[in-house]
Amino acid sequence: MSDLKISGLHKHYGSFHAVKGIDLEVPSGEFTVLVGPSGCGKSTLLRTIAGLEEASAGRVEIGGKDVTWARPRDRDIAMVFQNYALYPYLSVYENIAFGLRARKVAAGAIDKRVKRAADMLGIAPLLQRLPRELSGGQRQRVAIGRAIVRDALLFLFDEPLSNLDAQLRDDMRVEIKRLHQELGRTMIYVTHDQIEAMTLADRIVLLRDGQVEQLGAPLDLFERPATRFVAGFLGSPKMNFLAATVTEGAVVLSDGTRLPLPPGRKVREGQAVILGIRPQHIAMAGAGALPGHVRVAVVIELVQPTGSRVHVNMPLGGTSIIAEFAAHDVTAPGERTTIDIDMNRAILIDPQSETVI
Ligand SMILES: Nc1ncnc2c1ncn2[C@@H]1O[C@H](COP(=O)(O)OP(=O)(O)OP(=O)(O)O)[C@@H](O)[C@H]1O
Ligand SMILES: [Mg+2]
Repeated sequence: MSDLKISGLHKHYGSFHAVKGIDLEVPSGEFTVLVGPSGCGKSTLLRTIAGLEEASAGRVEIGGKDVTWARPRDRDIAMVFQNYALYPYLSVYENIAFGLRARKVAAGAIDKRVKRAADMLGIAPLLQRLPRELSGGQRQRVAIGRAIVRDALLFLFDEPLSNLDAQLRDDMRVEIKRLHQELGRTMIYVTHDQIEAMTLADRIVLLRDGQVEQLGAPLDLFERPATRFVAGFLGSPKMNFLAATVTEGAVVLSDGTRLPLPPGRKVREGQAVILGIRPQHIAMAGAGALPGHVRVAVVIELVQPTGSRVHVNMPLGGTSIIAEFAAHDVTAPGERTTIDIDMNRAILIDPQSETVI
């Protein structure tokens, strides 16, 4: 059964077309992440699901019920925003209890639910404090607590972690994932952070310019991107894109470098392509040749250590490519070295349509 079904959804703000015909079905219990660059329509889509924006066309069903014209409070949803929006003069306890009191839930039941949520989120000792006496991460937990006590069918999150520093964001990401495992509820989570999308999602919906660019399991999108946009959006550092021409069964870069054609691609002689190589699929050349890899001589340009890994820039095919090596593969700018590129995992893109071949 699907908890959410969106059909042919459009949203106009005046003459601006923000959501351009979205169809989406979310099965019960799934963690769906809406991801995409700033301004692509993620919040608009989420707010339309919540009923905070009115759809211009199309249909929204929640739990099998058409709610396209229903008020937010009649939609069986709970929402967590980026700016936690806590009531400053109410204690943590009362902030969490607020929605339940408004719904006239019995005091005993409220107490049980608030305490259970506080336990799950590790904020039980803070229940009597005011929001201003909390850290940013603690406030965010209260905002999440307020949503989970609602026991709604659908949980909606709009960039709930973007105000937190990197360390706290990592911790809270784990908390949210754990919460989903414990509650087993359907969650729709908006972020522009591809790491959050990859780590949290059962399924990613990658939006671009008000439309779904690609939808699937995180690894599907990562390993089988349908377009250059998807290939470039997911993965860090970003995938390398090199202009090339197919010549005599090889991919020839603009500087004349010949690389073997990745197997199974339908290309014709003389065809212009864009070769896509992930930084993780380039290795420092070792003692023996690796199957499917091609060996290329390069000069190191720039070295960025990140701790366990190191990101290394080097010129290839008329551009600067980036590779990710293990930190012990020490190199220095100006050094000549050889790399192994895994051509089996490289992709070819049609430069006109920007779709993967
Ligand atoms: N109330 C509004 N009136 C007019 N235009 C709007 C309104 N709200 C959003 N927009 C426009 O609609 C587009 C989509 O906005 P939206 O907030 O959904 O983007 P987003 O994907 O959530 O971006 P971000 O990652 O920056 O939050 C943007 O171009 C935005 O300027
Ligand atoms: Mg937004």
